[in-house]
Amino acid sequence: MLFMSAFRRNERDVIYLYNTFSKLMQTTTGGDMLNFGYWDKETKSPLEAQYTLSNIIGDFASLNTAKTIIDVGSGYSSPALQWKVQNNLLQIICININFQQLRYAIKNSSRKSIKDKDKSFIQVTKKIF
Ligand SMILES: C[S@@+](CC[C@H](N)C(=O)[O-])C[C@H]1O[C@@H](n2cnc3c(N)ncnc32)[C@H](O)[C@@H]1O
Repeated sequence: MLFMSAFRRNERDVIYLYNTFSKLMQTTTGGDMLNFGYWDKETKSPLEAQYTLSNIIGDFASLNTAKTIIDVGSGYSSPALQWKVQNNLLQIICININFQQLRYAIKNSSRKSIKDKDKSFIQVTKKIF
């Protein structure tokens, strides 16, 4: 993390960093989440830790009663798609600066048969004022 923050100077750097390292993360975990997850004594793999973290957040945010979630910094939208699959009524709005990740997320959401009305993918760029 220290390594990553040392190279993070502007939006373009952040996009470049993620484009460089995300594939490695996907290969090592076998999933599409870009976080280190939540580990406890029973956790056996990074993928399990990542799903556990998303479940903890989902419970904490009471997503079973929520109508809309806005995921800022959504990566490949794997956490948001997990929440959508678990909570049928939820609408997901995924916000990211990284167009490639959003494009991957859109394809992934279609593979999971998430209806268009239940999902939005928004590429944001820098604040202008
Ligand atoms: C550590 S990853 C986490 C991705 C996802 N939440 C997950 O857990 O799989 C951080 C994400 O935030 C995005 N990001 C970084 N700065 C951002 C900004 N200013 N606005 C929106 N997204 C941003 C990156 O492109 C990346 O997808």
